[in-house]
Amino acid sequence: MNSNNILTMNDLSVNDIMKILHDAMLFSNSQKDWQLSKSRLVANLFFEPSTRTHYAFLSAQHQLGCKAVNFMEETSSVKKGESLYDTVKTFEMLGYEAVVIRHPQDQYFQQLQGVHIPIINAGDGCGNHPSQCLLDLLTIYQEFQTFQNINLFIVGDIKHSRVAHSLIETLQRLGGNVRLGGPKEWVDQEELYMDIDQGVAWADAVMMLRIQRERHTTITHQKKEDYLQMYGLTQERVQKMKPHAIILHPAPVNRGVEIEDCLVEHEKSRIFKQMENGVLIRKALFKKIFQEEF
Ligand code: CP
Repeated sequence: MNSNNILTMNDLSVNDIMKILHDAMLFSNSQKDWQLSKSRLVANLFFEPSTRTHYAFLSAQHQLGCKAVNFMEETSSVKKGESLYDTVKTFEMLGYEAVVIRHPQDQYFQQLQGVHIPIINAGDGCGNHPSQCLLDLLTIYQEFQTFQNINLFIVGDIKHSRVAHSLIETLQRLGGNVRLGGPKEWVDQEELYMDIDQGVAWADAVMMLRIQRERHTTITHQKKEDYLQMYGLTQERVQKMKPHAIILHPAPVNRGVEIEDCLVEHEKSRIFKQMENGVLIRKALFKKIFQEEF
């Protein structure tokens, strides 16, 4: 495998993370128009739906001067039974210099040991979502200029959330504190559990998560109004947040379920800012995997 792969946040040291965030901030300021030294041929292989991640990677690729193509599973030889390994290896042999992959299987990349071009993981099942984690970290860092003792409260379907799984460990590694809320059956680290009303008052950043029904093996029969009142972010709960505290959500948002509709663009919300940061982070990731400097 390529040593520049970005598959999980464990592939990145604290120094790597801080360099990526720094580069992303330069992309929003002095290095807006910076491009790679040569136009790279890259492919996006999305085996699951995506709006933000897919099109943020594409925007980053275009801005950096890459030639980017989007793999279409429906019209590919996957439909004739070709394996993930053979599909990705084919892209390598066709001259593609890096691939971005989203796939429903946890740790799909374990099958790709024989691929030598860099792979950026755009989400594996319930496992990891490193580029989302980095854009969440950038959004927190822009707000507080540090991670030391920052309190992050993540609420909702944590068990099925690759976003939460990437962020919990990483923020702790960076010196922050994490607590988890929502239905107890979806909190897979019990020792971090905190009641919703306590959590919103404790946090510097409250991250709400969508219920990921597509990953559930049993049907959840909860009415959306009940869910919002029991575990969601309501105007009443926002009143309990610290004055400087912010609202995050990786999106897509199910308005009126995990968060009240009017809070999505509340003054505390950084939800659309996270999306904007997603392009900056992906530009920084391509700069890293192609080992270029400003
Ligand atoms: N946050 C995120 O991964 O969104 P998409 O599924 O739209 O890419």
